[in-house]
Amino acid sequence: MVHDQIAGEAPRPIVVPRVLPLPGAVAGKRVVVTGASRGLGVVISTAFARAGARVALAARNGAALELLAAELGSETLVVPTDCSLPEDNERLAQTVIAEWGGLDVWISNAGISPVLGGPARTTPDLWRQVIDVNLSGAYYGARAAAAVMTDGGRIMVTASVLADRPRKGLVAYSASKAGIVAMVKALALDLADDGILVNAVAPGWFDSPLTEAWQANERLGESILGHTALHRWGSVDELVGAYLFLASSAASFITGTVITVDGGYAIS
Ligand SMILES: NC(=O)c1ccc[n+]([C@@H]2O[C@H](COP(=O)([O-])OP(=O)(O)OC[C@H]3O[C@@H](n4cnc5c(N)ncnc54)[C@H](OP(=O)(O)O)[C@@H]3O)[C@@H](O)[C@H]2O)c1
Repeated sequence: MVHDQIAGEAPRPIVVPRVLPLPGAVAGKRVVVTGASRGLGVVISTAFARAGARVALAARNGAALELLAAELGSETLVVPTDCSLPEDNERLAQTVIAEWGGLDVWISNAGISPVLGGPARTTPDLWRQVIDVNLSGAYYGARAAAAVMTDGGRIMVTASVLADRPRKGLVAYSASKAGIVAMVKALALDLADDGILVNAVAPGWFDSPLTEAWQANERLGESILGHTALHRWGSVDELVGAYLFLASSAASFITGTVITVDGGYAIS
């Protein structure tokens, strides 16, 4: 190519495909969303349902899932699930196969962050709880999904901008999210030959029940906004596009990566 240009030859013109994919086109896809009982998972589930996907709603609080299913009014499955248990993830995947005959997209979004403190407060028990849900749960989910995806598929995990840019008092949470980023890259290699794409979405600071304590604390809230280039909390509608995009054919060459949606927190 360089030689051609030096010789003054015109480069071969690019061929524009007749059909260009529409980012976020997910109608008809069979989608699992964990952590769908509240917070970001409710919004992610709603976005997929409104885009015409069939959504299997998973979390421990079955009553909250039933309420969401009724509100969505579209084709949904309610599957009470403890994501920290491998057998629950396997049952969730099998339920989708039994009901819908296949699985296209699996989103491990469930996550907890129960402690705000250094090692003295982050006891081995608390450490285990966070890792069990956030990291091991995501691995069990990806494993269960890959086992039933027979025609390619998409696996996504909700990571966090704190994987790269930890804050004081969140050692277990940050470690779990950094583990997710490494896991997603490794799984993308392992599952590439099966046509399964594996990616993470890393939210910054969004207005959700998980961040209520941070928003309520003036000093922490100011510090977060001071480190966010756009100087505001994210609104959940600004997050879901990343999941819709990664699930759609527009993202067919994207695997093993992280889409960060953080208003510039990671760069500030
Ligand atoms: N909000 C933010 O600004 C932000 C920023 C970065 C990353 N994130 C990540 O985004 C994800 C969702 O956060 P969020 O803000 O929506 O939190 P949230 O409002 O606290 O919701 C957490 C969800 O996870 C579910 N969950 C917790 N433990 C579970 C378990 N053992 N099994 C199954 N489900 C479980 C909860 O349902 P049940 O209690 O019913 O089981 C709930 O649906 C998390 O992974 C979080 O780390 C959030």
